Amino acid sequence: MSKTMAIRIHAPGGPEVLRWEEVAVPDPGPGEVLVRHEAVGLNFIDTYHRSGLYPVPSLPTAIGMEAAGVVEAVGPPGGAGSVAGAGPPGGAGPVAGSGPTAAAGPSFRPGDRVAYGFGLGAYCERRVMPVDQLVPIPDGVDSETAAAAMLKGMTSWYLCRRTYGLSEGETVLVHAAAGGVGTILSQWCKALGATVIGTAGSAEKGRVARAHDCDHVILYKEEDFVERVREITGGEGVPVVFDGVGKATFDGSMKCLARFGMMITFGNASGAVPPLNLLRLSARGLTVARPSLKPYIDRREDLEEAAGELLGHIAAGRIRVTVGQRFALKDAAAAHRALESRATRGCTVLLPDETRTGPARARAVGRGAGSALVGRNHLLLSR
Ligand SMILES: NC(=O)c1ccc[n+]([C@@H]2O[C@H](COP(=O)([O-])OP(=O)(O)OC[C@H]3O[C@@H](n4cnc5c(N)ncnc54)[C@H](OP(=O)(O)O)[C@@H]3O)[C@@H](O)[C@H]2O)c1
Repeated sequence: MSKTMAIRIHAPGGPEVLRWEEVAVPDPGPGEVLVRHEAVGLNFIDTYHRSGLYPVPSLPTAIGMEAAGVVEAVGPPGGAGSVAGAGPPGGAGPVAGSGPTAAAGPSFRPGDRVAYGFGLGAYCERRVMPVDQLVPIPDGVDSETAAAAMLKGMTSWYLCRRTYGLSEGETVLVHAAAGGVGTILSQWCKALGATVIGTAGSAEKGRVARAHDCDHVILYKEEDFVERVREITGGEGVPVVFDGVGKATFDGSMKCLARFGMMITFGNASGAVPPLNLLRLSARGLTVARPSLKPYIDRREDLEEAAGELLGHIAAGRIRVTVGQRFALKDAAAAHRALESRATRGCTVLLPDETRTGPARARAVGRGAGSALVGRNHLLLSR
């Protein structure tokens, strides 16, 4: 048993409920390893766990879902994949039932670089993780990139490869295209041969969206995005809308769909979508999907496929992961405020080693960040 610092909540609420606390880390058991985080990814779902929109299994708890780091210790042999009963409540142990359900996992050794994309409790310096939730990070992909991309990238994978099987030549609408999921999903759709229409909240974010493979950008605070989609598609509409904005865009997104189109509503950045009257679908034969990542990666083979495709594209430079801003892990509340006030671009990482969040990097938050962001993206690629 050792100690680590973690960001925990004791009750749901605003960013002020995020507390930087010392918690116990159990020794890894069979099928588990101790991981030292080098970077933790920030996701909108973290704000839902914090606010109570998505209830957490127990309190107090560390929040956060994705991270990357180095294996420090390996549990004793036997029972790979077992997660039951490990770790004190609210500590930095694994979370039963929060990840893949395969009986046997891979094996790791101290020093291995690993990442995960769906393990509640990531906002900490060190934690015990079940091996069957971890994937190795390939050479050429740094920990910040892996931490930034695992949840958002595997989400992008299932959205355009599973929920909707995107085909070459189709035109898609991606909302919040300058955001974390948006920058990755737009590139993935483009790589599959689609024409990508992206929405963005400002001209500067529009430049970020264009730099991440959007063919058309709609500034949806200034322009009617339904009209613009009709114009761009010659009145046809699009066969699929990827909508992580939620309440504010849902009705407009439905109007953007072509006959037999699929509305994929996968998030609540502007608030949860109210209940839907299914009769709204019948006249044009529409489908509405409300997916989430977990069932798509529950089985070990699916996790390996999702992570393998994602990390393979990143390692090959086909998908660029832009880390637009870095915060010290202990400053997670500031990161939440930035995300919820639409002040972030691309992905955001929280760093346990705060000396790596230099002032030049922090400048990416705020107005005029677009060109700095794109420039640094190229730097990231050339590393
Ligand atoms: N279902 C799943 O499996 C899954 C997995 C991952 C993420 N998600 C969802 O995908 C969405 C994007 O997640 P992310 O972590 O990548 O965040 P993000 O896109 O980096 O940030 C959210 C963006 O949404 C836009 N937005 C529009 N209205 C907003 C409002 N009222 N408040 C805040 N933001 C608003 C903003 O972009 P503009 O200023 O350009 O409008 C903002 O930057 C979230 O809804 C998240 O819950 C779902």
